[in-house]
Amino acid sequence: MKDLFTLNEEGGLRTLDQQILRLFREKRAEIVSGEELSGVMQVSRTAVWKHIKSLRKLGYRIEAIPSRGYRLVAAPDLLLPEEIAVGRQSLRIGRRLICFRETGSTNEVAFKLAEEGAEEGTVVIAEGQRRGKGRLGRKWESPAGVNLYCSVILRPPILPTRAAQLTFLSAVAVARAIATTTALRPFIKWPNDLMINDGKVAGLLNEMSAETEKINFIVLGIGVNINMVREQFPDDLRHPATSLFLEGGKAVSRLEFTRALLGALDDLYDTYLKNGYGPVREEWLARCNVLGRQVRITFQESELLGTAKGIDEEGALLVQRPDGRIERVLAGDVTIL
Ligand code: BTN
Repeated sequence: MKDLFTLNEEGGLRTLDQQILRLFREKRAEIVSGEELSGVMQVSRTAVWKHIKSLRKLGYRIEAIPSRGYRLVAAPDLLLPEEIAVGRQSLRIGRRLICFRETGSTNEVAFKLAEEGAEEGTVVIAEGQRRGKGRLGRKWESPAGVNLYCSVILRPPILPTRAAQLTFLSAVAVARAIATTTALRPFIKWPNDLMINDGKVAGLLNEMSAETEKINFIVLGIGVNINMVREQFPDDLRHPATSLFLEGGKAVSRLEFTRALLGALDDLYDTYLKNGYGPVREEWLARCNVLGRQVRITFQESELLGTAKGIDEEGALLVQRPDGRIERVLAGDVTIL
């Protein structure tokens, strides 16, 4: 964890900073006097000033009005637990939020926490990753401060063979979050890419710890390119990548996006636990672009051609070969012909 100057070990603000912000929010843009702040926080006026300065350093715009007090003018688009939690009531996802300035990989952190017994719904977020992991051993570009890198711990009571259902669930959640925070129309490309036009805007990497008959936990790894600009993408990306900013032409609040995503995950997971895979599968099919299309699937050295017909309970893509046979495809890169 880098840069702890006003943050606690979970990346949250220190309690006194939290108290100041809570008071500002209760007063809704009104001026709060230094006296009131020091009374509520039970610290001196000088200490209040010190905390105001540290919040400003984080990007909070706090106006000081001589002989009247302070006013919160704007909050930064920083992924801090208390900012993400504003206005959210979570059933499971996000009841515990751990946010890093920088980490190796949020999936690695979440995996370790899950092994140590972290509760279902724990979310790990980082402003930047040093070794973001992509699918099939690829690297996930993770520059700081522009995107969302997030990993969610789940402990679903299902068989390990059904784990892919949760990947489909997370793809639907990302599509919902994009649709609610932008005017863009994303679609899902099997198995787990979120696309806008021809560019990949988000990817999912779900990792699991399981025994033969039981899942210990799943880590849903979600990377969304939110405000990344062209120069931040490497030249040698094999698949064209894009961001919400590049597609929509305007910056998207990462905080709003994160709240929308966690909300969608929470709702979908609740439905999944109550009603099973059916509703998720239906929404996934409605949001995907491969059904009924001629596709080529490549995996390592092999290639398969056919018509995409659907997905099954285990998340396999059902492809009808030219001779009519249905083949179950479990992994690979799809190209629509
Ligand atoms: C893909 O290749 O499409 C999957 C990309 C997954 C990236 C996310 S970012 C948050 C989480 N932490 C990681 O190291 N990877 C996933």
